[in-house]
Amino acid sequence: MNNFEFRNPTRIIFGKGTENNIGREIKKYTNRILLCYGGGSIKKSGLYSRVVTSLKENNIEFIELSGIKPNPRLNLVKKGIDLCRQNDINFVMSVGGGSAADTAKAIAVGVPYNGDVWDFYIGKVKVKEALPIAVILTLPATGTESSNSSVITNEDGLYKKGLNSELIRPTFSIMNPELTYTLPAYQTSCGISDIMAHTMERYFTNVDHVDLTDRLCEATLKTVINNAKILIKHPKNYDARAEIMWSGTIAHNGLLNTGRIGDWGSHKIEHELSAIYDIAHGAGLSIVFPAWMKYVYKHNVNLFVQFAVRVWDVDLSFSSYENIALEGISRLEQFFKKIGLPTKLSDANIDDNRFEEMANKCTENNTKTVGQFIKLGKEDIINILTLAR
Ligand code: NZQ
Ligand code: ZN
Repeated sequence: MNNFEFRNPTRIIFGKGTENNIGREIKKYTNRILLCYGGGSIKKSGLYSRVVTSLKENNIEFIELSGIKPNPRLNLVKKGIDLCRQNDINFVMSVGGGSAADTAKAIAVGVPYNGDVWDFYIGKVKVKEALPIAVILTLPATGTESSNSSVITNEDGLYKKGLNSELIRPTFSIMNPELTYTLPAYQTSCGISDIMAHTMERYFTNVDHVDLTDRLCEATLKTVINNAKILIKHPKNYDARAEIMWSGTIAHNGLLNTGRIGDWGSHKIEHELSAIYDIAHGAGLSIVFPAWMKYVYKHNVNLFVQFAVRVWDVDLSFSSYENIALEGISRLEQFFKKIGLPTKLSDANIDDNRFEEMANKCTENNTKTVGQFIKLGKEDIINILTLAR
């Protein structure tokens, strides 16, 4: 196990009805906020009116930034920064999924910074200051409700980049599993794939003797798999929704990678896919992750055997270690199919025309590698995309 520091300061307020206290919670910090949300799901579900009522009851002024799209864009981030500056706002809140929260985070770092907020995303400068952020989460997936990341797409060139900083972990996040009942089945599944991917990125590590976090990862994966099966038939099962929502936070709040080094190659490759083709992040991951596994499993067959046996209950009578490892990967793929996700690029109508472009962007023209389990260069990425065809 490697040395590590662990701290996650986000206060999680979890459970039924918790969003109705939003005004009271905000009042502990400020009386004026920027309210960020997406394309209208919160209005349709009635959540918007409950949030606004609670804010008004507590005399919280709010300016709105609406219309945030999935794979959120830089332009709207800049609009949000301007709104905060013009209205002297020093607190940003999102209501919605990861895209709304990531936009709020980008605004939070952009307001106190004099340069272009994109500088943070291309690693030109480090975050020194950020406005406090609150999240009301409606989609368990990204873990952004307590993560140190924000992922934004720059329309100019379609670059999708992530920023990591301890300063952008939300001050608090409200998570009511009931708010996820209105999710279309496909979005629920995309979220499930993202939660599993966050866990698996950490699981496939070169660090030895990380038994506790191995087991925590396996428990998270098993919990998500079992409860996903319940949701297929009973989308309003509160307990299953709650298990998946909390798993989404645990998968990405930093706990599961304590003492280990995660991979993140699949995420990097997926970000190129969703930047260019604007597919849901979770759908990109259900395509890329199995292909990545097939490409790298020989690097540590034992770890893939452990994954197959402990997560997917693969019977040890499968004749060889290699067969057991491959059966684990196959079961992951079957599971993604079962919950309605694509597992091949062709399922998402993506052809091989832009493989080279994506591999170049991902590796900055083959000057950098991605991933830690095996460091992937440009050719490796093209090979993985080819396996995913
Ligand atoms: O825009 P609205 O109308 O709200 O509709 C959204 C959107 O169309 C809808 N939705 C959300 N909650 C709903 C709902 N519809 C009905 N009922 C609800 N309760 O779902 C659609 C997708 O929303 P979005 O926020 O885009 O999805 P998600 O939460 O999966 O976020 C994806 C983004 O987060 C990034 C992804 O790359 C992608 O850009 N990620 C962020 C991370 C982080 N900050 O830590 C880590 C991840 O690995 C990921 O890269
Ligand atoms: Zn993800």
